[in-house]
Amino acid sequence: MSVVELAPRGPLRGRLRVPGDKSISHRALLFAAIAPGESVLRGLAPGEDVQSTRRAVGTLGLVVADAPDVVRVTGLGWAGLDRNPFAPPLELDCGNSGTTSRLLLGLLAGRSGRFRLTGDASLSRRPMRRVTGPLRAVGASIEGGDTLPLVVGAARLRGGEQHTGVASAQVKSALILAALQAEGDSVVREPERSRDHTERMLRAMGAPLEPADATGLAWRIGGGGAPLRPLALVVPGDPSSAAYAVALATLVPGSSLRVEGVSLNPTRLGFYRLLARMGARLRYEVAELEPEPRGTIDVEPAALRGIEVGPADVPEAVDELPLLAVVAAAAEGRTTIRGAGELRVKESDRLAATARLLQAFGARVTETEEGLVVAGPTRWRPAAVDAEADHRIAMCAAVAAGLADAPSTLTGAEWVRISYPGFFDDLDRLAG
Ligand code: S3P
Repeated sequence: MSVVELAPRGPLRGRLRVPGDKSISHRALLFAAIAPGESVLRGLAPGEDVQSTRRAVGTLGLVVADAPDVVRVTGLGWAGLDRNPFAPPLELDCGNSGTTSRLLLGLLAGRSGRFRLTGDASLSRRPMRRVTGPLRAVGASIEGGDTLPLVVGAARLRGGEQHTGVASAQVKSALILAALQAEGDSVVREPERSRDHTERMLRAMGAPLEPADATGLAWRIGGGGAPLRPLALVVPGDPSSAAYAVALATLVPGSSLRVEGVSLNPTRLGFYRLLARMGARLRYEVAELEPEPRGTIDVEPAALRGIEVGPADVPEAVDELPLLAVVAAAAEGRTTIRGAGELRVKESDRLAATARLLQAFGARVTETEEGLVVAGPTRWRPAAVDAEADHRIAMCAAVAAGLADAPSTLTGAEWVRISYPGFFDDLDRLAG
């Protein structure tokens, strides 16, 4: 594992284009695999998570052709995923990627053939019952317990009413993918709005999917395996990756940052809305709306104050809440994050990891069962910290270290490869 020095950061100035959105990239590859014909995907996320999905699509037998910045997937329809049900299970390694594993469970639940999903040590600890429970309820055959490895496939799925139980786009997406293959119609409902890329993309591909009511929380899905149209998609930049530079530009006086070509999907901007509630100066310009909003975000520094973050704020900011805690430690006054128990089952226990990280840098943080209480401002001191095998914790460390007055060290900096391989280079360039 590599140890890198993290520098204090001066003002961030200039333009930033972050890698393609990870959530959209996973979906584009998987949905292209079931659309008969050639899909053309540009700007896919370069990180290892999306490579796991790309590899799985290849292992499933589909032709995936790479040229610089363009990936072409030749789908063969739903039946293109079918295999001999009596053959040994086909092994699909999902690496570190929760999205790959959970979406594949839904996608493969209704195919003939058996598929064995595996993952790395972190993914093999993460809960799968939230997906396997509802899938089994509609007839899926899944061998295994609460975690990977799991063997799925060779079942006939029934339609019906389904509730995701947790506000999770991964669970919702798995249930929608299963519902599209089921006999009869389904309604899939979630408790709070989570990211809606699956719904947008499948509808753009002609899938029988429409709002079931006016709540925005329920979808009616036609079963029967209707064919999808291939995709021609340019993936917008990932707002979760841009968030770290945006946070630093807000906190370091003299900064002026423009993030270009980034996703402005409202279900992904929860962190940015919370930052604005703390006093941040952010300006959005939408350049394109369909199938995914995209545009620019301009950031100027601002004095921030603590806020209350409640359960309703969590799903649309879920990946950025550790970063919000870092920002809160720099703000004036107290920030309370509640209802964020989901953070305990991400790539690491992110409530514990964030508390440890911030305490090392001198911040006053208390961990609660389902959240964090952060008392700002902080007299930042340099620290020696560990990424805890979590890409987002590694990037949070770079932000906290950027606010200290002497260099810090980070063990496991290479974990940024999961979502944002060029993260440190981009930060060095912007901070001169
Ligand atoms: C994702 C959904 C979120 C998020 C993850 C990506 C997705 O997980 O944390 O990084 O692409 O659907 P949950 O849906 O489990 O909250």
